Amino acid sequence: MALIALGVTGGIGAYKAVEVCRGLQKRGHDVVAVMTRAATRFVGPVTFEAITRRPVITSQWKPGANADIEHIAIADEIGLLLVAPCTANVIGKFANGIADDFLTSLYLATKAPTLIAPAMNTNMLSHEAVQRNLQALAARGVRFVDPGEGYLACGWIGKGRLAEPDEIVAAADRMLARRDSLLRGRRVVVTAGPTYEDIDPVRYVGNRSSGRMGFALAAAAEARGAKVTLVAGPTDVEPPATDALIRVRSAAEMHAAVMQVSEQADLVIMAAAVADYAPAQTAQEKIAKSDGPMTLTLQRTPDILADLGRAAARRPSAPILVGFAAETIDLLANAREKRVRKNVDLIVANDVSVPGAGFDATTNAVTIIGADGEQTLSLQSKARIAEAILDRVEQVIRVRHATTAAR
Ligand code: CTP
Repeated sequence: MALIALGVTGGIGAYKAVEVCRGLQKRGHDVVAVMTRAATRFVGPVTFEAITRRPVITSQWKPGANADIEHIAIADEIGLLLVAPCTANVIGKFANGIADDFLTSLYLATKAPTLIAPAMNTNMLSHEAVQRNLQALAARGVRFVDPGEGYLACGWIGKGRLAEPDEIVAAADRMLARRDSLLRGRRVVVTAGPTYEDIDPVRYVGNRSSGRMGFALAAAAEARGAKVTLVAGPTDVEPPATDALIRVRSAAEMHAAVMQVSEQADLVIMAAAVADYAPAQTAQEKIAKSDGPMTLTLQRTPDILADLGRAAARRPSAPILVGFAAETIDLLANAREKRVRKNVDLIVANDVSVPGAGFDATTNAVTIIGADGEQTLSLQSKARIAEAILDRVEQVIRVRHATTAAR
């Protein structure tokens, strides 16, 4: 819950800012509306005043506005400056430090993060001057909600339309979560994807993991301000941008990489589908077929999560460990047993026989099992499942803090 300054500038999408304001309030945030002069030509300040139940700031010259140097007072109080819609003019002023009204002064005066939802004509958006200003702001840490494509008020079809209010509200919420998250500044290791165990130069033993669950977790942790090292097996899906990416192929390679990076980590999430067995020997040359059946001898791979659990038992400041349990029968019983046997804080159990859940899907349905409770999540996007897992991890961090403090 935070106080958000909602900057509204003079674009045709200004009416959509009313819906953005409502959406932010529904998520429990308090909103103060700051309108530029041009914005008041599109929507009346009274509308925002009635919704926010606060005076709307339209000018820094209004009597009373300077009694407590309002733009400085608000600048200190807010958790986020959100500008939706944001015109090319205001983007230009922000980028160049021009402060000729309340909103542009507020941008300079606040240390709160800034989120901008640009809206303008397609040609204006692609103009070099605007693009340069956007890049300058991005380099300064300003975040953007990308404009959508579609019919523009000027009759054009193209990119430039204000993003949908729901999208803007969700982006604002994510930025605030990042500010408040216990994962902020923590070192997180996430594994993703399958491992390939080579039989010969052209064949391997693998599995159908796409890497999406691990990638969603890495992206969500990164968005909460964590420093994420992603250790990924071979995947077709592009990994998200993280602090570091280590590509591996086999379980043995993943084991070596994870054991090394985990030494400095605060949290390790093993979402990879690591092969349990690998060919005892990898043939140097391609194995030619013969008439009879073929026998391939497989041997156990190192169990990375179990090794992390063993190391954690010896080290009081060990990272929090999260494992996955992919099952087709006796889901909860097997997963509970795995959590204890591997000595991990949380096990995410997923029944991979449910349509749409688990391997090679964009959705998942899971039960998060911890020492002090279980939480079942119905079929939903892997991004939302990732958020719920990280919320649960933050709960574990809170309990650990409380236990350490009590000692
Ligand atoms: N895992 C691991 N190293 C392995 C195998 C699995 O670190 N060699 C991790 C997975 O990343 C996952 C968890 O262990 O987080 C559970 O994997 P799963 O294959 O479901 O369980 P197993 O313990 O291998 O048990 P079983 O195959 O007997 O069900």
